[in-house]
Amino acid sequence: MEVIIVNTALELASEAAKFIKNEINTKPNLVLGLATGDTPLMTYDKLVEFYQAGLVDFSKVRTFNLDEYVGLHKSDLNSYYYYMHHNFFDKINIQEENIHLLDGFSEDFNQLAKNYDKLIYENKGIDLQLLGIGINGHIGFNEPDVKLEINTHVTGLTEETLNQNSKFFPNIEQMPKQAITMGLGTIMRAKKILLIATGARKAEIMARFLEDSSISTSTPASTLLLHQNLTIMMDLEAARLYLKEKKMTINENNNQEYKNIIRRFSTI
Ligand code: GLP
Repeated sequence: MEVIIVNTALELASEAAKFIKNEINTKPNLVLGLATGDTPLMTYDKLVEFYQAGLVDFSKVRTFNLDEYVGLHKSDLNSYYYYMHHNFFDKINIQEENIHLLDGFSEDFNQLAKNYDKLIYENKGIDLQLLGIGINGHIGFNEPDVKLEINTHVTGLTEETLNQNSKFFPNIEQMPKQAITMGLGTIMRAKKILLIATGARKAEIMARFLEDSSISTSTPASTLLLHQNLTIMMDLEAARLYLKEKKMTINENNNQEYKNIIRRFSTI
């Protein structure tokens, strides 16, 4: 596992976008797993900037999104379909047929889930999966539970997640109580994973899951610790408790190419 710590959320976006750009430049038809939420928004903005500057080409990139709310139509402003198009896809040269999103308005979610995993498999798996993290340790919409699902599936949302995400809806009653999400197996089968976390509200979960060197279904993100190619990027606020527990100080970095990075280390 590689841990990268930067000062601010803006700097994190810049590093995360650079990471993704480099993967695409190495493999132009990259299969890219994408996330939603507040955290990746600035990373998408940065990738759009790179595209506009001619530094990256999305024409062959294939994408698979992590999740979608059940019951929200594509046209709903709170659907992840809308989020992805509005914030990213409409601003780059990705081909519509290379975009894959889960349909929250499906008539048969079991079939949809099976087809999604099959399609990922037929595309030879996800090369790079971008992830955010919920304050309760969920990834995608894999919520803390006594058992965790491996494949793409429909799931109920926990109180904590409903509260956390209700800020995007007029009120909590109008919020879907279920979602369809890639399972932890779908996510873990990605060849590389980049998890990004910003802001003080993520400090506790980041410290908890990185410090506990054990896997627990009550912290779904802990399964990521088993992954062979995991990079975690945090801004200083999200990393603060983790650094404190590890009794780490921030060191100066004079490398101009990576001047935003104030601490970078590998750990097992
Ligand atoms: C949602 C998404 C997750 C995301 C999480 C964190 O629940 N399903 O994929 O990681 O929110 O969101 P934010 O980045 O807004 O904190």
